[in-house]
Amino acid sequence: MYQIIDGKKTAKKFLEQLKKEISLMDKKPCLAVILVGDDVASKIYVNNKNKKAQELGMKSLLINLPENISENTLLDKIKELNNDKEISAILVQLPLPKHINSNKIIDEIDIKKDVDGFKPENIGKIAQNRIPCAYPCTPLGIIKLLEEYKIEIEGKNIVVIGRSNIVGKPVALMLMNKNATVTLTHSKTKNLKELTSKADILICATGQPKMVKEDWVKSNAVVIDVGIRRGEDNKLTGDIDFENVKEKCSYITPVPGGVGPMTIAMLMHNTVRLHKRINN
Ligand code: GUN
Repeated sequence: MYQIIDGKKTAKKFLEQLKKEISLMDKKPCLAVILVGDDVASKIYVNNKNKKAQELGMKSLLINLPENISENTLLDKIKELNNDKEISAILVQLPLPKHINSNKIIDEIDIKKDVDGFKPENIGKIAQNRIPCAYPCTPLGIIKLLEEYKIEIEGKNIVVIGRSNIVGKPVALMLMNKNATVTLTHSKTKNLKELTSKADILICATGQPKMVKEDWVKSNAVVIDVGIRRGEDNKLTGDIDFENVKEKCSYITPVPGGVGPMTIAMLMHNTVRLHKRINN
């Protein structure tokens, strides 16, 4: 019998703690979120991030810029936020429109305000098992979920599908730092199924709905689904074919209500952490 890893419940627990901590602060943390353009999904994500910050008693600033904004104007906006003493943390929602170089934008964010932990200095620190200003939110959320459910990481065979800078690469590094044996796979990996079917813990972050089937999964594996897409039936769907796979797992995350709420919770956690670092 499989057990559901309840991200919603776990996130709520973290956030209650955080809310108490914020209530004791004289100067409240402020998260600035930049959204360029009006992609529907991104808009929902950034609105949720801002709403959550406010629910916790933090300040938040949502900056919605037009799709055709120039790279230089966006860089200037970031410089302004870097210099603004009221702002504790800066998030630029990705992906950005094609005419903007995301690397240049991430490079401009002050390392002390890099709430996503996307800057090369932060990822580099993680690669060397040193402490960054912030850990990327989704990878951190995944690790907190495993810890919450007392799922051992050390010595486990972990397969990650997807090598993005946002999830796949940092989560692989962070799990290695916790002494797992990690295989990072991607769209060009040969014999993917052979690798995944040996995984004690399988983490999928590809955005390919229902790509992982029952025969990809080892019996009693722990399965973590990072994907979230709205299907033709308007239902949110993950990268794992949940109904097909669940009986084979010891633990599995649902979509929605798995990794997603933890990403937001870790964003709030990072905002508070950066704020404390700047103000102490
Ligand atoms: N787009 C999808 N996930 C993320 C995230 O965690 N942070 C940012 N900035 N953009 C994203």
